[in-house]
This record gives sequence, C-alpha cells and structure tokens, in this order.
Amino acid sequence: MFRRSLALALAACVALSLAGCDPVPGGGVITTIGDVDFSTELAIPPLAPSTTDADGRRVFDLTAQRGETEFSPGVATTTWGFNSAYLGPTLVAKSGEDVTVNVHNELGEPTTLHWHGMHLPAAADGGPHSLIADGEAASPTWTVKQNAATLWYHPHLDGDTEHQAAMGLDGMFIVQDDAERALPLPRDYGVDDIPLIVQDVRFGDDGQFDTGTKGYVGTLGDQLLVNGTIGPYLDVSTSVVRLRLLNAAVARSLDFRFDDGRPFALIGTDGGLLQSPVDTDHVQLSPGERAEVLVTVKPGETTVLQSTPPDLGTTEAVSQKNAGADSFDVLQVRASAVLDDVGEVPGALVPMTALLPADAAVTRTFTLSDATINGKKVDMSRVDEVMTLGTTEVWSVSNSMAQPHSFHVHGVQFQVLTVNGKPPPPELAGWKDTVFVPPGEQLRIIMVFSDYADATVPYMYHCHLLTHEDDGMMGQFVVVRPGETPQLADDGMDGMDMGMAGLPHGG
Ligand code: C2O
Ligand code: CU
Ligand code: CU
Repeated sequence: MFRRSLALALAACVALSLAGCDPVPGGGVITTIGDVDFSTELAIPPLAPSTTDADGRRVFDLTAQRGETEFSPGVATTTWGFNSAYLGPTLVAKSGEDVTVNVHNELGEPTTLHWHGMHLPAAADGGPHSLIADGEAASPTWTVKQNAATLWYHPHLDGDTEHQAAMGLDGMFIVQDDAERALPLPRDYGVDDIPLIVQDVRFGDDGQFDTGTKGYVGTLGDQLLVNGTIGPYLDVSTSVVRLRLLNAAVARSLDFRFDDGRPFALIGTDGGLLQSPVDTDHVQLSPGERAEVLVTVKPGETTVLQSTPPDLGTTEAVSQKNAGADSFDVLQVRASAVLDDVGEVPGALVPMTALLPADAAVTRTFTLSDATINGKKVDMSRVDEVMTLGTTEVWSVSNSMAQPHSFHVHGVQFQVLTVNGKPPPPELAGWKDTVFVPPGEQLRIIMVFSDYADATVPYMYHCHLLTHEDDGMMGQFVVVRPGETPQLADDGMDGMDMGMAGLPHGG
C-alpha cells in the first residue's frame, strides 16, 4: 500500500511540477490556527444499534465497507468505514454484560477488527491472527469485565494496519458501569458527552487521501478531521461538557488545549476514570491514547480547542520532521445564551487500587529500537513472552533511539510506576493501555494477567505508531494456565505478510 500510494504521490508531483510538493520525508512546520472557518457542525458518530439474543447477549453488527465521503462539498474522497462510508458507530456496553459483535468484511481484501483497550480473551481480541477474509464474517464474543472507559476499535492486519485505519476504519467503544453512573458527570451522548475522534489527513489535488508525506513516525497529514468533519463547531447547552478525546491519527501526537488557555479537568485516561479530577490546561495524546476531560463554559461564549506543538522529547530537528512543531485548530465550542446547569466538576471520581511491585512474580524488559522490540521484528509463528494466568508483572520499557516510539499492550490495562525513575505525571497516573516513550526514556509499568488463558492464541504488544507496527515493531505474548506451554494454532499466518505480499517486514 505504502509503495503504491507513494508512487502516485510522486507521479502527481512530477505532473504538476509545483514547488513545495515534497512527498518524503517530513512535512515542514504546519499550522492551521486562524485558518479554520468552523462552518460545519461536528458530526457525532451514531450509536450502534444492538439486539439481545436468546442468551441475553448484546449483539452488534458491523460491516467494514468501501465508500465515498464528501469532506468538502462536491469533492468525493474514497474512504472506508463500518456501516457507513467513513468511521464506525459508537458501541456502548455495560460492565458485566456479554457482547457479541458480528463483523462482516466487504472490503474486497482481508481485515481483522481489534478492540483496543478491552480486557478480553485472546481469541476475541481481533489481532493479526484473527483474519476475516473478504466476504466472510467473524463473531467475537466476550464478557465486559472492566470499568467504565473510552475504548476504540480498528483493524490490526499484519503489515497493513496503518493503511486500513487511515482509510477510516476506526470507531469508539464506550464501557459504562455503576461507579461511573453514580457520579454527577455529563453522560448524554452527543449532547454533553461528546466523542472526538481526531485524525490528520492530507488531500491530493484529486480529492483523495494523499499519504505521501512521512516522518519517521509515519504518515502525516496537514489538517485535522474530527469525527470526519473538517473545521467543526459544536453547539453546547450545558455548563459543563465532557469530551472523550481519541487520538486516532496513525502517527501524529497532539497536545490539546483551548485558545484562551482555560483550565479544564482531566477525569479519565485510556482505561477509565481517575481517582480525582486533575486541573490542567493541556493534555498530550500520542496515537491510540484517550483522555476524558470536563470543560466548563459560560453562557454565550465561544472557545476553540486547539492542538499546539506536542513535546516529543527529541531534538528540534527530529521534532520538526515528526509533527512536533505543528499546531491546529481542532473544534470551536459555542455555548448557548442559556445553559443548563449540570453542576460542578466532582471532587472525587473512582477508587483505584495501586498494583504493587512487591506482588510482581516476573519482571521483563522491552527495548524499543529501530522498528524492533528487543532486537526482533514480529514473527507470527514465534511466541516472544509467556505469562502465567493470575500473575502480576512489572515491565521496563525503554526507547534507545533518538526518535519517538510508543508502547501498547493488548488485553490488559496497566499502571505506570515510574518514568525515568520518578513517579508518573497525573496524566499517566490512571489506567493506561498505550504510552508514549520519548527518546532515552524508561518507563516501568505494572499489570495483572487475569481471567483469560489460551495457549493457542497470542496477544500483541507493539509501538502504536502504526507504520512501525506494520514494519514489525511488535511482539506476541501468550497467557497460559500454570504448567501449560504455548501451542500456537496453525492459522496460516506463518511467514505471511498481508500488507506487502511476499515481502519481509521492514522492506
Ligand atoms: Cu490499537 Cu494493537 O492496537
Ligand atoms: Cu490494542
Ligand atoms: Cu515506534
């Protein structure tokens, strides 16, 4: 995919022979601040309908399909989506519920569907081993066993995740529970509880996605889409608004803040609510990370959510080539002249029991370097790590390069113990499944492998800069019962690379 689209981009450059047409590498400094007219109402992904089957399971249907989207009036862009031409509906389920998602693949090529942040059996996780051939369907089933959180879903095809996600195969999955329900938080979906799926894109002169501009981190766009809307505004009618921010970009880190510098409350991270709100004026998210924030507005005012240059922890030269100097207008928030008073930001949220290193049976080390983890690229037939069901582990994750990476673990939520030996900042103090790992940094994270063992299907850990994942910066772990040894099922994935048929990783 990369090769084909790059060739197209180059061809377009030659044809136009315009100055400034610079497909690789790095995009220079981009800012859209002040250039966005906020003339389109923010689209809200529809809530996915569900039915209840004879066993009491909540059943959803998602169809991955191709289509066309008019991001700008009159310009049709080829896009992919679930049950629509672009993005997917928001799934909502309660902790304790059994869910089944019937995933139909009508893309014309294989895919998989992964539930990012979900604690579930490896066989339902939708990783690269769970291929859904074109024209086929899969029906992953699991019990939701985690607290209220903002999760998401996207394909996870070995070697071709970046492309499929960038075409629009992304959606949100909101988990609810009683503890969240008992808090005075805005939760009227699309009214005062707003999903924000943020991505960067670049359009070619033909109106199609142009994926030719790349930094080391991956494909970089020059403008943002929020829920697929260019230049969106949001009308709000309550004094406090909850924003569920998802950085669904494939490569770009974003640092969200308001143009007037107003403080807001960070109330949740990847895996759910914090113990108490953290007052801040910005929240930085690398690809795949989420944050829930509460913003307070006054009657009749407007404020603009922006992304200002994220701190990538690199030299300035590396930062500039990897979106570290870019800024964007994201969303204009327009408060009505009369607002419903929905109270204040609560002082306390949910209790969180700290996982203790003293309880860890195992310590593992993961070094991120040169699109490898511990010097290895992923091999679909190799098990890299074996965990025993019920054990607590501490992982030391470090980046030995001058470029940024991130680290995501499937199937579990973890806690960050230390960042370079120090306690984590507030935005890393809650449940996490994805963390940014700047050059030279070392993070220690702790997690428990509970509930699900399966000697035959692995979970993944990987860099969530998706081009790195596609390049093989990923490993496989299997959770077994005490005494068991992993026995990977022969799923035909051995030595296979769907993205660039026949080519080895990192070609
Ligand atoms: Cu969101 Cu393995 O990924
Ligand atoms: Cu994931
Ligand atoms: Cu990486």
